[in-house]
Amino acid sequence: MAAFSETASEWWPFSASTTAVVAGITIFFLAHHISSRKLDPREPPVLAPAVPLIGHLLGMALLGGRYVKNLGIRHQRRLSVFTLPVPGSRIYVVTDPALAAAVQRASRALSFNPIVPELTQRVLGLDHATVQITRRNVDPRPGEERGFLPDIQDMVSAWLGPGEYLSTLSLDAAAEMKNEIAAYASSVAATTSSRGAATTGLLSWVRHLVTVSTAKYLYGPQNPIALDPALEASFWDFDHGLGSLLINVFPSITARRAHAGREKLAAALLAYLEAGRHATSGSGIVRRRVEIALEHGWAMPAVAREELSFLFAGIVNATTSTFWILLHLYADPGLLATVRREIESVLSSRSDENEPAASSATPKPKPLLLRIADLRDKCPVLVAVYRECLRLGSDTYSTRVVKEDHLLANRYFLKKNAIVQIAGGVIHADPRIWGADVSSFNPQRFLDKTNSRSDAEALSPDNDGGAKPRPKQQQLQLQQGNAFHPAAFRAFGGGKTLCPGRHFAMNEILVFVALVVLQFDMKPARGDKIDVPPKNDGVLPVHILEPVRPVEVVISKREDGFARDGLDVEFAM
Ligand code: HEM
Ligand SMILES: *[C@@H]1O[C@H](CO)[C@@H](O)[C@H](O)[C@H]1NC(C)=O
Repeated sequence: MAAFSETASEWWPFSASTTAVVAGITIFFLAHHISSRKLDPREPPVLAPAVPLIGHLLGMALLGGRYVKNLGIRHQRRLSVFTLPVPGSRIYVVTDPALAAAVQRASRALSFNPIVPELTQRVLGLDHATVQITRRNVDPRPGEERGFLPDIQDMVSAWLGPGEYLSTLSLDAAAEMKNEIAAYASSVAATTSSRGAATTGLLSWVRHLVTVSTAKYLYGPQNPIALDPALEASFWDFDHGLGSLLINVFPSITARRAHAGREKLAAALLAYLEAGRHATSGSGIVRRRVEIALEHGWAMPAVAREELSFLFAGIVNATTSTFWILLHLYADPGLLATVRREIESVLSSRSDENEPAASSATPKPKPLLLRIADLRDKCPVLVAVYRECLRLGSDTYSTRVVKEDHLLANRYFLKKNAIVQIAGGVIHADPRIWGADVSSFNPQRFLDKTNSRSDAEALSPDNDGGAKPRPKQQQLQLQQGNAFHPAAFRAFGGGKTLCPGRHFAMNEILVFVALVVLQFDMKPARGDKIDVPPKNDGVLPVHILEPVRPVEVVISKREDGFARDGLDVEFAM
């Protein structure tokens, strides 16, 4: 100690190391002070980062979506919105359904579209000229010129909204899924007899079936993945590196496989478009998307990248939610039996429908008829399982940029150019909304509440983003006063960014699940109970979260039900 004081100068009595510590602490508190300062007294409460200035960014980079989610859960009782200061900007995190609805309503000041060009440039690798086109008129007022984004969004929402085209596409999807699953069923029959049952990763199994069939009903039998099955692996490489592509720090290193996968798919989709296969055998919605892009001056290579994003939207969330639904059903034999009974009760024999009973003099087996609407309307437990899996699996963030200074709900000041995020993961984990068992899988909560509004449907002005009310028969029955808050179920987003594919997704997922549970049994590869792992929330939640570890199962043809000798089913709406 004595030696230290001797080296210190006369007027400064402290040692060099003490000085460094004091300076460090001073800088820390100064930075902390800057980090925790409000820009306006009405700004939402500021949560200062543990490491001044960059702490929140560091947390997000290291912990993925879990970082903000855990902050939100920790402060849930006290704060319904808070400010995360980040260098040069702010992120406002909303963790309460009523405020989420206020964000959704304030769509003039708070919009997602201004950041879409930048995001799609990173994720899809769009060229500069195309990005310039997408920047134009992203949020037109009525009567103003409309850019590419609002044009394509409105078309997709209209085509996938309740109506003729939704039925057509849902029936196409059902037919493709039936074919893929039937092909699998015959292969199972072959393997079980010759080599004994094989072990399958449940997620990979669902992925393969959904990827192949989605590519077919959207892009036709000559789609890139049908022509080159190796592209299926490229697709999932792209998916798993999407977070790194988004962060865009040295993507060629941090997202090498995703980048390579994307480039292969973009090239194959370009070849597909240039051969005119979308026009000869693609779905109507894909043809129209391509037309709109061309009308706005897009070049074909950019259109190919844009279609990769549509294929992505069609596959990834449907896959992961189907996986969780099947897993929870097969992990609980009682629940599986209930759901099977529900589905079997809506399967009818075709002859019931349009042929008089007398004509059954020559009894030959008729295909069964499955109405997709019956799965939605008459299978309440199945639908509750669907909703509960989406609630548990989605930590989605609905993102908006603040276009002008705004007073949210007449109370919270939001600064121009800052980011607002509705934290679905926090809202989905709120025991005040969902009950004390919020973190367990409990489909019953949706039955008790008859929560038809939970697909973020727009009965109340709170979550419709200005959409027109749906025709009566398309609304699920709503029991007034006995439902969750309409903005509490976030799996499909909400307001202007409510998923346009939600009706279609529900149709195809329920059909897929019905086809599987009618035809197959599953056993765990090891042990005697199928294990339900937790979700991996340490990634950027670009889609419904995957499990932390794979689930290995043995799939066999069902030996009890009437589908024993093969399921011959036709679909109707
Ligand atoms: C369970 C399955 C699905 C879930 C949970 C889901 C969820 C979502 C969410 C949360 C968004 C908004 C993203 C945001 O706020 O940034 C979104 C957007 C979108 N979804 Fe879905 N989705 C599903 C299935 C589908 C399907 C099957 C399709 C198409 C066939 C589809 C088409 C789209 C499109 C095109 C967008 C972008 C809309 C836009 O840019 O305005 N989705 N989806
Ligand atoms: C998929 O769903 C998640 C969770 O609900 C959401 O965050 C994401 O934006 C969706 N992605 C697509 C491509 O639809």
